[in-house]
Amino acid sequence: MSVAVVVGGPSAEANVSRTSGRAVADALTSAGHRSALLELDGDLPRALSAGVFDVVFPVTHGPLGEDGCLQGLLEVMDLRYVGSDVLASALAASKPVAKVLFRAVGLPVAADMVVRAGDDSLRAAREARRELGGALVVKPACGGSAIATSRIDADAADDELASAIRRALEVDDAAIVEPFVRGREVTCGVLEEPDGNASALPPTLIEAQGADWYDFTSRYGSGKSRHYCPAPFEPDLIQRIQDAAVGAHRALGCRDLSRADFVVGDGGEVTLLEVNTLPGMTSTSLFPEAAAARGVSFVELCSRLVERARSRKPRRIPAPLPMP
Ligand SMILES: Nc1ncnc2c1ncn2[C@@H]1O[C@H](COP(=O)(O)OP(=O)(O)OP(=O)(O)O)[C@@H](O)[C@H]1O
Ligand SMILES: [Mg+2]
Repeated sequence: MSVAVVVGGPSAEANVSRTSGRAVADALTSAGHRSALLELDGDLPRALSAGVFDVVFPVTHGPLGEDGCLQGLLEVMDLRYVGSDVLASALAASKPVAKVLFRAVGLPVAADMVVRAGDDSLRAAREARRELGGALVVKPACGGSAIATSRIDADAADDELASAIRRALEVDDAAIVEPFVRGREVTCGVLEEPDGNASALPPTLIEAQGADWYDFTSRYGSGKSRHYCPAPFEPDLIQRIQDAAVGAHRALGCRDLSRADFVVGDGGEVTLLEVNTLPGMTSTSLFPEAAAARGVSFVELCSRLVERARSRKPRRIPAPLPMP
């Protein structure tokens, strides 16, 4: 197969994406496919038309690449691609919107409040404290990699919360404020089987090293976090995490793969934070690591994903009705 691996884009995570994309392209080459790395920019439609590709593999994170925009371009160009379609990508990209759907199917999520650009940040901070409690987390509504995410202590001044809200609003038009959920950081991948059945990979327990939470440096700094996969949990807890990951994948209508992030309390309380439709894909990223723990090597994982995309049925095009 000839595969276009799309990377980059106008996202703070562009370099993360380029690292993942190179790993995916190398894996596809090892599996006997041809691959080309293409940048997500205004020249992409031309590069995609010029290349004659069987499948497109978006390895992009954040705005344009993971939120349905790139997926819309690929739909218009009638190209088959790995991963979720336009709607599921857009739903997952917005934490507040995704949480509405998670709540609707009974998945365990934290309460939240959304603050929009133009709202008075100090008023919003006071309201968040009243509604949600003292210790809080502020995130951009459509962010990633913990960028512009702040943890606010219970004894911090409302001013500090207000400036955290403004920081999140610098990178997005909306911010989401949640109660701080105490617990361990856990993530769980979902990989669709060849028959389309969504099956959870073993969950991973993540421990930041040298930071007290899983911030940007802990994520991508070498040796800055430890991953334990399968997470050393009781079977019942593993099952509840996996059920929630598959439930979240289905609630948003995700396709092929996704990775759900959780906080798990000491008493085994599971809180679903969000779903990533295009998780990091370097060979040591969380999703490939969990696939390997299930016996699916990185090369096999990348091959399976492009084969699945290629085997998708072509779009049904109805005959245009004559005008009455
Ligand atoms: N309500 C919360 N309580 C405690 N910690 C939280 C909460 N929300 C987020 N966090 C912390 O912030 C990190 C980033 O949050 P989240 O996973 O929701 O967003 P993200 O930046 O989009 O992540 P990713 O890069 O994995 O897509 C989490 O990994 C977790 O450490
Ligand atoms: Mg996350």
